[in-house]
Amino acid sequence: MTTKITIAKKALTEQPSKYTRIVVTEDKNSWHRLVETTEGHLEYRMGAGKLDELTPRQFRTLARSIVQAAKGHQLEQIALQLDNATYPKLQALGNAWFYRTLAENLTLASYEFTHYKTKRDESKSLTEIVVCGITTKEGETAFRTGLIVGQAANTTRDIANKSASDMTPTALGAAAKEAIKGTKATIKVLNEAELKKLKMNLLLAVGGGTKIETKLIVIEYWGDRSAKGKMQNAKGAKPLVLIGKGITYDTGGLNVKPSGSMHDMHLDMSGGAAVIGAMSAIAKLGLKKNVIGIVPAAENAVSSEAMRAGDIVTAMNGKTVEILHTDAEGRLVLADTLTYSERFNPGTILDVATLTGAALSALGQQASAFMTKDDALETKLRALGEESGDLLWPLPLWDEYQSSIKSNRADISNIATNFSRFGGTIEGGAFLHNFAPKNVPWAHIDMAPRMDAIASDKLAKGATGEPVRLLVRFAEQY
Ligand code: BES
Ligand code: MN
Ligand code: ZN
Repeated sequence: MTTKITIAKKALTEQPSKYTRIVVTEDKNSWHRLVETTEGHLEYRMGAGKLDELTPRQFRTLARSIVQAAKGHQLEQIALQLDNATYPKLQALGNAWFYRTLAENLTLASYEFTHYKTKRDESKSLTEIVVCGITTKEGETAFRTGLIVGQAANTTRDIANKSASDMTPTALGAAAKEAIKGTKATIKVLNEAELKKLKMNLLLAVGGGTKIETKLIVIEYWGDRSAKGKMQNAKGAKPLVLIGKGITYDTGGLNVKPSGSMHDMHLDMSGGAAVIGAMSAIAKLGLKKNVIGIVPAAENAVSSEAMRAGDIVTAMNGKTVEILHTDAEGRLVLADTLTYSERFNPGTILDVATLTGAALSALGQQASAFMTKDDALETKLRALGEESGDLLWPLPLWDEYQSSIKSNRADISNIATNFSRFGGTIEGGAFLHNFAPKNVPWAHIDMAPRMDAIASDKLAKGATGEPVRLLVRFAEQY
């Protein structure tokens, strides 16, 4: 059941009585009342605290809470009107930010994952949200953009939430094709024979433990067509490359995960799903930018064919990698994909991956970690985290960290040679640094902390759809 979200020309006070009117009050957050007005309208009054103290972060939560409250009270149709002028702390961000953020978060909060439910929920569901009071063209455009971005993030969640038996690398390729259908973006899905020719041995090694085919999904969107022919030299024409980890299931391999840590590893392609969602939004918005999305897709399985701890594999870039731990597979598939991305002559590369449990130890579940050596990129990503709501926080990517992954038997090992788990997230970034194309601004986003929604997100359980909002904004401002 999807919720229809529309803009109304008429003010909230003129909406038909079938709509329950949402009224935000200055009462404290927990204060909610459903009342019938003297004119016979249902009004849902929701406390949000002092409105002149409401922060951008709280505004996103407010938008989500409206939807959650409507669902909780089984309201089927709601109407609301929020005015930027009411919230002084949001002024600096402008009207476009306000309405886009509203649309994104109403859309994200409307999402439910019901794919595997056989019985339809008996309770009434929220079918329609009408947003009143958007009077400017700018506001309307921003709201519509927000709907597209929110829907793309929900597509990401749908893809990620599917079980691994249904969302195999092949299925992920098909889902990507579906996501960009009707746009100017093109897609190719490379098979194992093609990957072998390319010498993407790290990617093939990770997927080698199962009959399920390994794939490389490549989505191209050349929105800056004027520049396409000049791609080799003109700076503005160099594409933004987005890379997303697409491990469709992570058993850990022969270094198998303990049972309590495995059941949600169908979400280990969340980075890949986010790249697919972002590419679909970028193409649907018709951005005049060149953006390439690449998703290495494989299942990290256990079998006699699986890569072994101690195996040494030659990466696509010629470096030899000692696989000291088969559960550090994400960095292996990303490494070859970073090398592969060179053919596009990237202007900037962002990779997104559920790479390390250590990122949850560092940051909890509120923000993704990221690492870059490029100061401008660091500043940009932090700012976009705040602007989009896909929060992220930097960790160092200093050369000092390379010493722990210097292999005794090969060029580099995929975990610390002394098996220390300290600084595990940085170690992942340090490993990837050896494969990132030289002299190209690159950031690695470890989104493991944001793989699964938490209660304070006010979202359905499961995939969060992060960081689609951030990636789309990055492309817009690229
Ligand atoms: N996919 C996992 C990381 C992960 C763990 C994501 C928990 C989300 C929640 C990754 O492939 C992995 O297994 N990483 C290992 C790395 C270690 C072997 C160096 C980890 O975090 O334990
Ligand atoms: Mn793993
Ligand atoms: Zn993994």
